[in-house]
Amino acid sequence: MLCNELVRQSILARLSGYRYRHTLGCEKAAIQLARRFGADEEKCAFAALLHDITKRLSREEQLYLCEKYDIIPCDVEKVEWKMLHGKTAAEIARHEYSAPDDVCNAIACHTTGKAGMTLIDKIIYLADYIEETRDFDGVEPARQLAKHDIDRALLYCYDTSLTDLVARGKLIHRDTVEARNDLILQGVSLLRAVEGSEK
Ligand SMILES: [Fe+2]
Ligand SMILES: [Fe+2]
Repeated sequence: MLCNELVRQSILARLSGYRYRHTLGCEKAAIQLARRFGADEEKCAFAALLHDITKRLSREEQLYLCEKYDIIPCDVEKVEWKMLHGKTAAEIARHEYSAPDDVCNAIACHTTGKAGMTLIDKIIYLADYIEETRDFDGVEPARQLAKHDIDRALLYCYDTSLTDLVARGKLIHRDTVEARNDLILQGVSLLRAVEGSEK
């Protein structure tokens, strides 16, 4: 695993100015979340720095990397091909930055989530959503939930993303549905927060 300062320098050439600022924001958020919830700070920072490393690539370049690294796009990913950047970035992290498996796995699922996420998976998904340059509707409640309960924060992110996708008539990746179901089956609920605040 490379040192994070070297990674920071090397990703500069591969990301746009906006994406670089987002990536540094994501690194900062990932370190804060790792500290708060007891994860490995260096690994979380490493994953955050590399999570969007292939975001700039074209459809052809994404599909080339899929072929190269044996990634088989599902029907949704064939249409919403930008979703593939999580999986392709994970392979670049593995092969060009010697990232360990847990870092690669977190990068791979940062766009969709998935059932059975590890703490580092959850931290990267959430850091990507709440980092300081984000300013979309709904980011503030996610930041507040993330101060105390990572699972409720994640559920809020899934609900907000899914509602937005439905409103825009977009396809939904099965991993996101499974990620949300997984949390609810574990007893995670946003209703308790609402009920609690009414007392
Ligand atoms: Fe991304
Ligand atoms: Fe991102």
